[in-house]
Amino acid sequence: MQDDALSTASSVNAARLLDSIQTLARFGAREDGGVDRPALSSIDIDARRHLIDRALALGCSVRTDACANLFFRREGLENLPPVMTGSHTDTQPTGGKLDGCYGVLAGLECLAALNDANIRTRRPLEVVAWTNEEGTRFQPGAMGSSAFTDPVLIERYMQARDSEGITLAAALAAHRDAFPSLATRPVQAQAHAFMELHIEQGPLLELADVPLGVVTGIQGVRWYAVHCKGAAAHAGTTPMHARHDAMTLALAVRAELSALAHELGRDDTRITFGRWTVLPNSINTIASDVTFTVDFRHPDASVLHAFDKQLDACVERHAVSREVLFAHPPVEFAPSIIRRVKDACNALSAPSMNITSGAFHDAMYLAKHCPSAMLFVPSRGGISHNPAESTGDDHLVLGTRALAHCLVHLCNEAP
Ligand code: GLV
Ligand code: MN
Ligand code: MN
Repeated sequence: MQDDALSTASSVNAARLLDSIQTLARFGAREDGGVDRPALSSIDIDARRHLIDRALALGCSVRTDACANLFFRREGLENLPPVMTGSHTDTQPTGGKLDGCYGVLAGLECLAALNDANIRTRRPLEVVAWTNEEGTRFQPGAMGSSAFTDPVLIERYMQARDSEGITLAAALAAHRDAFPSLATRPVQAQAHAFMELHIEQGPLLELADVPLGVVTGIQGVRWYAVHCKGAAAHAGTTPMHARHDAMTLALAVRAELSALAHELGRDDTRITFGRWTVLPNSINTIASDVTFTVDFRHPDASVLHAFDKQLDACVERHAVSREVLFAHPPVEFAPSIIRRVKDACNALSAPSMNITSGAFHDAMYLAKHCPSAMLFVPSRGGISHNPAESTGDDHLVLGTRALAHCLVHLCNEAP
């Protein structure tokens, strides 16, 4: 069995893997070399058709579910719960070729390598393309993976609308029309394990000059919108003492939240005020309404809770209001799967280091469903969500070999 893992890893075909990344990137290619492929758009549906054809050619069965996740299944020798791997194929509007796509294409490459090495595994192996991880077209993100692990969510998601007013329900109907003969994957008992290979999207592996990151968990996240109310008035005539300026108020709240986050979270704090909406947004009118978003992340749940409490106190002190947009606790991956990932790195004589994911991923939800973990490869310059996102070919191939090694071991585990 050990030999099967190494033979599959060495059957990973570098040219085929790298070519598959370039080929998928043609769907939604941007002129600057990046990719813009919104979830369930017609471009995404074309990309999905390409992936389905590829999986069928590899001898897999293809199924879908209520959130249009795609499951490419290679049968095992026994009818045991499957091992799953995969990621997402939707992109940010200024996305690169690798975020998400690498994990799906590396999974397909592992299926091809198993075929080439003529290896049958005990358990089935399913490669999954999860729908709408980015949350760019429909919010929230990671819709497909969260609806898979918690099927009641789909009812709520159905009402989500994109910027043109198209509902998720309508987008899912378009997907069904595009692939009328796809079988539905039943909501099933727990999978045996889930393993997601992804680019790091940050600088740590590159700075340490280490090619593989064994991801032990994902930091927790809070998303808020803070609404600050003022009164519109003339910018030239209204004395400074007589103003109710929503922007002045918003900047004071922002400064307090930033100081709070740094004090509570120290070096591990990540705080971002990324989206601002200003009314009436006029050069010579004092702002009447300012809404800004807060993205606060930290690996320690107690810091996240303390931030929640102190944000509420700050909001009350300033008489502004806040809305919770999203919250997720820190995730710790399963020690049994982390061990498999480390074993794979060691078996390939590849240096590795433990790392906590700063970004969230589909594995954050799969970890609720079955023992899960992730593997990272370096991102050049730590750049992601950017057309310039890139990873060295050697690293892409090594990550896929380590994934193959890990999957074969997991697929051969006893019930
Ligand atoms: C998703 O990629 C996130 O971490 O924001
Ligand atoms: Mn991703
Ligand atoms: Mn992303």
